[in-house]
Amino acid sequence: MFQKVKGFQDTYGDDCACWEKAESIMRDTFALFLVREIRLPILEKTAVFNRGIGQTTDIVEKEMFTFADRDRADSEGELLSLRPEGTAGTVRAYIENGLYNPPGIKKLYYSGPMFRREKPQKGRYRQFSQCGAEFIGSSSPLADADAINLLITYFDRVNISRFTHLEINSVGCPLCRPEYHSKLTGYFNKHKDGLCADCNRRLTKNPLRILDCKNENCGKIIKNASVMLDSLCPECAEHFESVKMYLDALNVKYIINPFMVRGLDYYVRTAFEVVTAELGAASAVGGGGRYDGLVETLGGPAVPGVGFAIGMDRVVALMKLSEEFKQTPPKAFIVTFGGKVKNSEIALLNRLRAQNIPVEIDYDGKGMKSQLKQADRTGAKYAVIAGEEEMNRGAVMLRNLSSSTQEEVSIADLILKIGNNHPFNFL
Ligand code: HAM
Repeated sequence: MFQKVKGFQDTYGDDCACWEKAESIMRDTFALFLVREIRLPILEKTAVFNRGIGQTTDIVEKEMFTFADRDRADSEGELLSLRPEGTAGTVRAYIENGLYNPPGIKKLYYSGPMFRREKPQKGRYRQFSQCGAEFIGSSSPLADADAINLLITYFDRVNISRFTHLEINSVGCPLCRPEYHSKLTGYFNKHKDGLCADCNRRLTKNPLRILDCKNENCGKIIKNASVMLDSLCPECAEHFESVKMYLDALNVKYIINPFMVRGLDYYVRTAFEVVTAELGAASAVGGGGRYDGLVETLGGPAVPGVGFAIGMDRVVALMKLSEEFKQTPPKAFIVTFGGKVKNSEIALLNRLRAQNIPVEIDYDGKGMKSQLKQADRTGAKYAVIAGEEEMNRGAVMLRNLSSSTQEEVSIADLILKIGNNHPFNFL
């Protein structure tokens, strides 16, 4: 027997009902904000992520599923990676397809599987699902605030806001960040001996990431480190003030977390996360920020952008904390006469389906008793007993499976009785 790959999951049964709800509300909410879908490949050239996300990030350093594409005749082949996130690919597609023409903001969303070779634990998988939105083409702080507003509106609509709160920060820009970096490096260098081995490594590579360390001793040192918010240039400070003002106007509640560090290098100015205490170490249910230099970094024009991604596995886990989800049962189960299913019974099945009524039938011609038991198990409300005599008269026996009462009804009445109110009513 085979087992699935470590950190990957199978999803089935009633869990799928929860996923379907989370995804359909996601599509409705994005439609309300006029964010249009972009369908992207799962595989990209590794260079897109190396350049886009940053060489010294955990994702690029150790978490990507990368392989050489052997289709290429030359040398060893080009390196390809399963996408660990959606922003770099969206920006690659934005540039490649010339979506910056005509100029103006493009609001795009994507959803689907992402891959990171992280240590699997509750809420953290190697294949997980994200849906993300990217607002590309505006540097206005209102774009930041409205992107955050969209994220929060979604959490409200899937009814998990009571488990979460929003944290925001500003991580500055290439103008003000270098000075802050050297201030931080100087401070941590002084306290080097008290820092864990990981942080000592980060000190030379990416000192900002020390702020994110969960080690208790490091925590004591981090507590007294200076924060980016105190070193912002006037433009970044003004941008942050405006984001807060617009969030207030949109009635979005937030906490300022000056120690928030995002795990991707493309951020400038606004950074944000929606955090929960319900999922152990996997505390972020969504996150994002502004990435004004990214389009240029990937070879496009100087176009600013802001966006976020939602961790759908974590959304689903939170939805299941307070609500039960069930797959839609059949409206009715056609109980056939037994033996080989007759053409008249198949015609009835077809007729009900043509009325958009989800009905079940036993393909194997089991006995009537066994079919009734099966009907009960499916959660169907009715059994439609297609007796030969009744069928000859254009009628059937309709049995209400919860009250165990039954009556003869004409097939025309049957359709009215069973009703045509299936949620996926597309006829
Ligand atoms: P991120 O913070 O790396 O941001 O991921 C966003 C969300 O994906 C996280 O808050 C978390 O809920 C979920 N997530 C990440 N890793 C895992 C995992 N291993 N298992 C389960 N869920 C996970 C980004 O990916 C950026 N691209 C967001 C963005 C869009 N920034 C600007 N635009």
